[in-house]
Amino acid sequence: MIVGVIGAGYVGVVTGAGLAALGHTVRVGEIDPEKVALLSEGRVPFYEADLERLTSEGIANGLLSFHVDNREAVSEAEIVILALPTPPAADGSADLAAIERALEGLTDALRQDVVVVTKSTVPVGSVARFQQFLEDRGARATVVSNPEFLREGSAVGDFFHPDRIVIGSRNQQATERLIEMYRGLQAPVLATDPESSEMIKYASNAYLATRITFANALANVCEHVGADAEAVIEGMGYDRRIGFHFLNPGPGYGGSCFPKDTRALVAIADSAGYDFKLLKGVIDVNEMQLRRIVDKVVSSLDGDGDAKVAAWGLSFKAGTDDTRESPALKIVQSLIDRGIQVVAYDPAVTTTPIDELEIVSDPVEATKDADVLLIATEWPQFASVDMGRVRDEMRGNAIVDARNVLDPEAMRRIGMRYAGVGR
Ligand code: UGA
Repeated sequence: MIVGVIGAGYVGVVTGAGLAALGHTVRVGEIDPEKVALLSEGRVPFYEADLERLTSEGIANGLLSFHVDNREAVSEAEIVILALPTPPAADGSADLAAIERALEGLTDALRQDVVVVTKSTVPVGSVARFQQFLEDRGARATVVSNPEFLREGSAVGDFFHPDRIVIGSRNQQATERLIEMYRGLQAPVLATDPESSEMIKYASNAYLATRITFANALANVCEHVGADAEAVIEGMGYDRRIGFHFLNPGPGYGGSCFPKDTRALVAIADSAGYDFKLLKGVIDVNEMQLRRIVDKVVSSLDGDGDAKVAAWGLSFKAGTDDTRESPALKIVQSLIDRGIQVVAYDPAVTTTPIDELEIVSDPVEATKDADVLLIATEWPQFASVDMGRVRDEMRGNAIVDARNVLDPEAMRRIGMRYAGVGR
């Protein structure tokens, strides 16, 4: 099958390289010429495990190519996948301008029987809107919803082993063409209408964000009553209706999806006349969680001299160099705003938009003369740093472990004051 992909962000590149590995001819259109040049050499302009290998293999097999001209990417394609950003507008709703601009530019290059797929998270009703948009411009395309459920950091694995494939269309032939495209993947296929498919994506992300927020709120109560949130969550997890996943307390959820999609679902509900109080509460509690971590750091600083904090972790979660809506970065910014000096280490992030932030290339070096060590991202390698050396480097002895990475008892034994989340 010939497949066109519009947008070489992480969804576009993972999907494109993944489909090439399934044997399809995939042409990815991307307006940024530098990205196209890099990707054409098999180099990926962001950190995603295993993606360079997959991309290089696709190029070497002659199945995967990158194009500055979107029209070139779609002209022979039986399926065109839209993998473009949908940033939030001022009211929280998703902004569809990038997608419509792209569609505008390629309408007359599309094959008449093409199936156009929305992969990006788009508001309920977008498939119908894009269908009308294309019809108004004389295209005979069928627009279908097929949301992605890829997690940054494990997106390649998620592509090949999806929990489900959701296809939203009222056109049976279009649905079958997508099923054919995914042949080779073992996953249940849910064929439904476009509106339900679009809603499944928001519902999944909003539910996961709610789950994390529940764990965070519970951890806060545990701190007050002397319970250990890790034990409480483990005890809950054995109940098969609950399970263990996605209940790790921390500094609140971040990243390019959950904050945006929870706000978008609130906006969708509002405009439909439903006040989604539960989700509004989740968003509020998530913001409070971040402030609680900042307060923990500030209250661990004794004295009012020149305070220095060592921050381990800047990405929004482990396994990625993405700092969009990163709780770690927001905490760091908030500390700097209070006049506190911050020196950071992150295994994948080497630059940030925060000018005052110094980033070093070694975790122990970051702790030199620090009053507090803050752990803001759950990189597993933090647990194997020699904490005796860290203690000797630091001026103070406080640890604020916003990801519960370290062992509290072991830290106390070496003379550190330890504060986790809910323990
Ligand atoms: C999320 C979803 O998990 C994907 O299924 C979805 O496709 C994607 O959004 C998207 O809409 O594109 P992602 O944003 O990459 O993926 O990251 P997650 O692994 O879901 O983590 C989101 C946030 O929740 C991170 O800040 C993470 O640290 C936090 N989190 C996660 C916790 O605080 N506790 C947990 O137990 C799990």
